[in-house]
Amino acid sequence: MPMNLKGRSLDSALNFTTEQIKYLLDLSIELKKAKYQGLHTNNRPLVGKNIAIMFQKDSTRTRCAFEVAAADLGASCTYIGPAGSNFGKKESIEDTALVLGQFYDGIEFRGFAQEDVDALVKYSGVPVWNGLTDAEHPTQMLADYMTMMEFLGDLKGKKVVFAGDIKNNVARSIMIGAAFTGMHVVLCGPKSQHEIVKNAPSHKPVYEACLKLFERNGGSVSFSDNKLEAAKGAHVIYTDVWVSLGEDFSLFEPRIKELGAFQVDMDMIKAANEDVIFLHCLPAFHDDHTQFSMEIKKQFGEKYPVVATGAMEVTDEVFQSKYNKSIEQAGNRMHSIKAVILATIGY
Ligand code: CP
Ligand code: NVA
Repeated sequence: MPMNLKGRSLDSALNFTTEQIKYLLDLSIELKKAKYQGLHTNNRPLVGKNIAIMFQKDSTRTRCAFEVAAADLGASCTYIGPAGSNFGKKESIEDTALVLGQFYDGIEFRGFAQEDVDALVKYSGVPVWNGLTDAEHPTQMLADYMTMMEFLGDLKGKKVVFAGDIKNNVARSIMIGAAFTGMHVVLCGPKSQHEIVKNAPSHKPVYEACLKLFERNGGSVSFSDNKLEAAKGAHVIYTDVWVSLGEDFSLFEPRIKELGAFQVDMDMIKAANEDVIFLHCLPAFHDDHTQFSMEIKKQFGEKYPVVATGAMEVTDEVFQSKYNKSIEQAGNRMHSIKAVILATIGY
């Protein structure tokens, strides 16, 4: 059912209802079809609109998805990079928001603190889209669940396992998405992290909000520290980097020790449903073809066999396999971001 989301910000996905999230997912799929049919070329609904995309952390997918989506819709797009503005350094978030709110019809923001997104929403007066904070990655979540819908059909009652750093932003967004779609999510990581997700002050309100949604929509959240057990019956296996943007390189060694047992490998895939799909928000460390993974291999490969090839959260065997749908998933970032822009600043 069409919905009016004009003026709304996607700061946290939890500020939307289940029906609104489902509408955004359906719209993402419709816009993808329209693009494949070339229909977007004679329909530019946002001509005359202007958006800004601000990044305090680097990006490939999110930046490009916003730029292409804006172009397809007819809107202009201004990119402000991590080193390209005084935001948060010489000018407060409040003042920046007050100014940009006069130029732009919508603002994307990628940064650290969720409070910075909230301040942008409060002071800019225009829709703000969270392009990743330490707390959440809601536009990623839409592409993830859109991709699951494409491969699995109806998601209700299906099982998604997130393996690895289960306390990070992407794991949280996967839990939130499962709560909206009525899926069973298993957060598979070290026992110490189970408690953090359930009880740490920075996590508890989100966990409890998800429990309420699961009660309403079906599905569940559970925890495991055994990847082969967790994978049983899984329709989706998902992982993310062990060290996130903004975290220090010195964290790699402790994370290898802590999360090595949760590397997604072919044994885990084989323990899942026969037609399981593998998803990853990307970028992924699956070989030694990056500066970081080369360095990890050199420094830690002998000491920790799990990273001997430079692969960390997922093996290259899984990444190169037919199970991997993370490239299609990355493509869906553009369609789902287009849906968010259109729904929130459209005419
Ligand atoms: N998945 C994701 O957000 O990718 P980027 O960091 O490249 O934007
Ligand atoms: N957890 C990762 C996701 C990158 C898209 C990070 O925050 O860097």
